[in-house]
Amino acid sequence: MSVMSNVVLEVRDLTTKYVTRFREEVYAVDHVSLQVEEGKSLGIAGESGCGKSTLALSLMGYYFPPLHYTCGEIIIDGRDISAMRPDDVRKSILGTEIAYIPQSAMNALNPTQKVIHFVEDVFQAHDPFKSKKEIHEFAKEAFETLGLPEEVLQKYPVELSGGMKQRTVIAVSVLLCPKVLIADEPSSALDVTTQKMVIKMLKGLMENGFIKSMIFITHELPLLYNVTDDIMVMYAGQIVEKATAREAVFDPLHPYAKGLMGSIIVPESGLRDVKLAAIPGVPPNLKDPPVGCRFAERCKYVRAECKVAAVPLYDAGGGRAYRCILSEEVLREAYQHAG
Ligand SMILES: Nc1ncnc2c1ncn2[C@@H]1O[C@H](COP(=O)(O)OP(=O)(O)OP(=O)(O)O)[C@@H](O)[C@H]1O
Ligand code: SF4
Ligand SMILES: [Mg+2]
Repeated sequence: MSVMSNVVLEVRDLTTKYVTRFREEVYAVDHVSLQVEEGKSLGIAGESGCGKSTLALSLMGYYFPPLHYTCGEIIIDGRDISAMRPDDVRKSILGTEIAYIPQSAMNALNPTQKVIHFVEDVFQAHDPFKSKKEIHEFAKEAFETLGLPEEVLQKYPVELSGGMKQRTVIAVSVLLCPKVLIADEPSSALDVTTQKMVIKMLKGLMENGFIKSMIFITHELPLLYNVTDDIMVMYAGQIVEKATAREAVFDPLHPYAKGLMGSIIVPESGLRDVKLAAIPGVPPNLKDPPVGCRFAERCKYVRAECKVAAVPLYDAGGGRAYRCILSEEVLREAYQHAG
């Protein structure tokens, strides 16, 4: 990971949990620390249920039951929002400091409203003194910059293709120029061509001055190569690998990150066409996670020591970190032998 410079978002030791109606506690974000610098993007990868969306909600201070804050700091541009009331966060942070595109957002658009109404809603909440004329002018210019025809503003969601709908959601989310944009699975369920257009648009948001940094969430680790600068892999609510995109894709250290990539070395050009080898088994139930390494039941390299005590996140230097008791040398050698 790159050397720290102008940090827009800093998260220290964040832990959040769901409390179910049977009073069971599910720690879906377990002591997570991360940083995103101005001009940089962070990819978060992991299988379904590993805590990616919960982390996104937690980063936005979205603490409404059943999700509860437990500990940690979320510092955006110098302010710790973990100490703020959720309502205050919603009023003074969301949209301007941090914006979130939820998973499947494009399918949740109100079908009875034209796109221009979504735009008006954004400004009504944050800049009520702007006239409709000013809002419309601003929206036209913003949509044009983002490669969307202005006619889209007068359309209903049902009149837009999937790709156009997703690009519209992205455009509306960044109208207030947030410092951090969190996009949760923004390209899932889209065909490859549309996926490329959506990713191109997201990558252009920083160049166009709409956002200062981005967090891109996906269950497809290889997709992040060429899209984000750094990558964090999550497993069972914890970070298991932190690295640059190149390192995470071509030289992953944690066996889970390695598994997400498949065991083959992938030529750069064909990266996105690769069929992934599935990792046998399923992640542990977070209501009662195992004592030792949470990946132990699925790991090819498991040893007795792995199951004894919680495994810390080891600092591998240069911003890299991984959560495994084996040394980098042992892991790399094991991967070489595995072919
Ligand atoms: N409302 C809830 N109550 C209790 N547990 C929950 C709730 N929502 C999510 N969880 C649990 O929290 C964990 C993390 O879920 P989360 O949705 O954050 O995963 P994810 O990585 O975003 O998965 P996906 O790729 O399917 O979107 C899972 O074990 C899930 O069962
Ligand atoms: S600690 Fe053990 S079980 Fe966990 S990833 Fe490393 S080798 Fe596998
Ligand atoms: Mg999710």
